Amino acid sequence: MNVLRTLEDLNLFVSKIKQTGKTIGFVPTMGFLHSGHISLIHLSRKKTEVTIASIYVNPSQFNDSNDFEKYPKNEKNDLALLEQNSCDAVFIPTRLEIESLKKVSVDLGDLDNVMEGRFRPGHFKGVVEVVYRLFSVVKPDKAFFGEKDFQQLLVIQKMVSDTKLPIDILGAPVVRESNGLAMSSRNSRLSFEAREKAGFIFEILNSFGQVKRSVLENRLQGYGFELEYLETHCFGNQNRLFIAGVYDGVRLIDNIKIK
Ligand code: PAF
Repeated sequence: MNVLRTLEDLNLFVSKIKQTGKTIGFVPTMGFLHSGHISLIHLSRKKTEVTIASIYVNPSQFNDSNDFEKYPKNEKNDLALLEQNSCDAVFIPTRLEIESLKKVSVDLGDLDNVMEGRFRPGHFKGVVEVVYRLFSVVKPDKAFFGEKDFQQLLVIQKMVSDTKLPIDILGAPVVRESNGLAMSSRNSRLSFEAREKAGFIFEILNSFGQVKRSVLENRLQGYGFELEYLETHCFGNQNRLFIAGVYDGVRLIDNIKIK
């Protein structure tokens, strides 16, 4: 696997691939990889000829500096996982190089006013900035995002459509731990006991509509889950139920498809 730490290395790698006419699949990440990320690498390998991942913890998308500082990192393990899963290259840029690239700002409309947009002011602006910058240098044909961050997936689709970038944005289903907890790099910050119990979030999502909302809210409270939102939204033809809150000091989000 090619480990590309500078824009110069990346540009050289990308231009060689473009010369061969092969398609590029891109999986942007913030590292501390888990099976959710690896499912995106597999999807990219299935849909495109060369897969590039990136690892960059983007400061501009953290509305809470504490969350940014505590964001878990393990580059050695990330590189081993990417290599084992036949990723062709990984781009690990510095902040200076990323910030030297042109950024865009997109009007996200209502997407920026609900759920993550409402509870994390400025978050999607930071996501749009960094993903656009990465797209401008990786120049992928397709890029892959997990549906755990479903609203982020919609934001990226809107950014690509508004800026007319010729990139297909594909989502992949949420990957879960054996108790149903949605995989997230932040899960590593839960205590062992909290992580074991945290399957209740998925159970509660699945009981929505069968049990009164107040009962579900009481259950969440009983587990010590500080609920931020539990909302249904219809995007296109997809109706989904979304949840976010703080559990054991860690902010978690999840969502499921509903009828
Ligand atoms: O989903 C993430 O890990 C990040 O938001 C992303 C897309 C890599 C941008 O920093």
